[in-house]
Amino acid sequence: MTTAPQTKIAAAGDAAIDEAAALLRAGRLVAFPTETVYGLGADATSDEAAAAIFAAKNRPTFNPLIVHFPAAEAAGAAVVFDDRARALADAFWPGAMTLVLPRRSDGPVSLLASAGLDSLAVRVPSHPAARALLRAAGIPVAAPSANRSSSISPTTAAHVAEDLNGRIAMILDGGPCPVGVESTVIDLSTETPALLRPGGIAAEEIEAVIGPLAAPGDGGAPKSPGMLSRHYAPGRPVRLNAEAAEPGEAFLGFGPGAPGATLNLSPSGDLKEAAANFFAMMRELDRDDYIGIAVSPIPRTGLGRAINDRLARAATPAGPHANDVSPGENVSTEEKA
Ligand code: TXA
Ligand code: MG
Repeated sequence: MTTAPQTKIAAAGDAAIDEAAALLRAGRLVAFPTETVYGLGADATSDEAAAAIFAAKNRPTFNPLIVHFPAAEAAGAAVVFDDRARALADAFWPGAMTLVLPRRSDGPVSLLASAGLDSLAVRVPSHPAARALLRAAGIPVAAPSANRSSSISPTTAAHVAEDLNGRIAMILDGGPCPVGVESTVIDLSTETPALLRPGGIAAEEIEAVIGPLAAPGDGGAPKSPGMLSRHYAPGRPVRLNAEAAEPGEAFLGFGPGAPGATLNLSPSGDLKEAAANFFAMMRELDRDDYIGIAVSPIPRTGLGRAINDRLARAATPAGPHANDVSPGENVSTEEKA
């Protein structure tokens, strides 16, 4: 009989952060809190460590990772900043924005971390535990969301443990993530800036700094493999723009006009509060008591765009999809937790 090794879960104090930093430097996997969602961190300079992330997540290896730095200056060793990138970094870092920029050929980051692309996604998170960990580790840290591929992103240490216990060395517990949806991903590797993924910083705020963004998928197949059409998927069907539950359904409400909601993302209709609650409430309703999850309409402005994006993916039935990145590489049930 073998017992799976347990993953250590520790509150994100100084000693635990030092231990986590040492594990990262030794090539091990550590989950840590960011202001958006929990990340599954590994040494971004090591192909072996990047490969270990893909293995732990069951992630298709073509999917490139975001590399995290303690400051924009440190990111400058790995990618080339232009004026637009500098303006956005000044405005929104540290924070919930990721920039896709041209890789430096002499940079330190593993090619596997960016799935062989000549661009690299970089981010400077604002969560104090993430910043302390990145400073203590002293290496760039590749970190996708700390869930099995295509399952719901984790916003608490307990969510991470549900998906990855026994598969990673340590989980730093920093409490619930305050933003609750992943970072906004902006592609600046080409002339026209594009919104690859709506997220924790509203696209409108970004456009106020660098002008209009092209829509994701403009001009053909989505460039960001995280845009697999089925993603962030709960185990039961999701019905959008619902006014009420049908018999047997859970009802995830939004705003004051959702009486009888099983849970309400924000009874007052605050999109920020709704984003922070979104993944945790989807997890809570994704259980056998219900035949499906009905969800109130969510306004398509500000953080509502990120929530609607995640909902549209969650509502896509399992199976092959026209939008999936690579023919024959749809997200199959075996990639789900
Ligand atoms: O908030 C977040 O961004 C979290 C925390 C942990 O930082 N991370 C996260 O990582 O959501 P992940 O791996 O789940 O999503 C990364 C997204 C994917 O959509 C991926 O395709 C895209 O960024 N991406 C990464 N590198 C890219 C590149 N070089 N070109 C285009 N898209 C890229
Ligand atoms: Mg993810």
